[in-house]
Amino acid sequence: MKPAWQLWRDRRGRLSALRMAALALLLLPVTKALFDAGDIVHGARPLNNLIHRAGFWALVFLGLTLAVTPLRRIARYGNLVDVRRMLGVGAFFYIAMHLTLFTADQRFDLGKVVHEISHRVYLIIGATAWLGLATLAATSTDGMVRRLGGQRWRRLHQAIYAIALLALIHYFQQTKADVTVPTFAASLFVWLIAYRLLAWWQETSELSTLNLLALSITVSILTFIGEAIGIGIAFHVSPLRVLAVAFDFSAGFRPGWQVLAAGLSVVVIDAVRARWSHRTARPPAVAAE
Ligand code: HEM
Repeated sequence: MKPAWQLWRDRRGRLSALRMAALALLLLPVTKALFDAGDIVHGARPLNNLIHRAGFWALVFLGLTLAVTPLRRIARYGNLVDVRRMLGVGAFFYIAMHLTLFTADQRFDLGKVVHEISHRVYLIIGATAWLGLATLAATSTDGMVRRLGGQRWRRLHQAIYAIALLALIHYFQQTKADVTVPTFAASLFVWLIAYRLLAWWQETSELSTLNLLALSITVSILTFIGEAIGIGIAFHVSPLRVLAVAFDFSAGFRPGWQVLAAGLSVVVIDAVRARWSHRTARPPAVAAE
């Protein structure tokens, strides 16, 4: 058996290119922070900068963990499941850094940390998501899967959807002005959940290319409508005026277009992979005459 710390090796102890790529991806935020060290140190609030980076990347890795199941089906790449646990534990690593940096920002005064968290709704929501992620990380080992039993373990780990929702609410609440990135993150989350619901409803593990296209267009339309209503309420403007801005590309691409582009990329991958597997599938054995 391979030592658990050799993350770049698969279960059989062989070097795995996929695992090495996942590891490089997980280390990317640290590398980028080292690269930006000069700007961070000379910025107004270095610790706050790092808190934001750690929180953002934790959310990215949480999203990637949720994307593994749809992507491995769509890309017909079952091995992808091999890095799901790494990505999930990576999300927890960054969220542990997020809280540690927040504690450092409070000069390690634990009383102040508890006081701050308990007096701000967005921090209470973040802390609840934090505890949830910690529970999932602690029960992510093979030993815990055996101890809990497959079915109980799966049920417990379904909490990841609620955790991701809380993390998104926390993200929206702490965002002061531009909600473009949180809206895009939320729309991707909706896509991932809707994919699972549709597959469950159709009692299939693979959605057709047409279904993926319909799903992507629907989530894109919902994102435009949701953003228009949200901005309309927050800034007391007509949602129709906000919708009109969606077609003014000089101001950049709104999240509705971004999620549509992401969805269409997935549709293309599905169509190409479906054709490819059709071509490479073995011809059926000819019955003996
Ligand atoms: C005890 C738990 C947590 C605490 C104390 C905490 C604290 C904070 C603080 C202080 C900020 C910056 C707010 C500001 O500058 O006004 C922040 C931002 C953020 N947090 Fe948390 N948080 C917690 C849990 C989480 C969790 C579980 C996630 C996601 C999995 C998360 C994701 C984020 C994100 C995405 C941001 C914004 C990053 C950006 O600006 O790009 N946080 N959090």
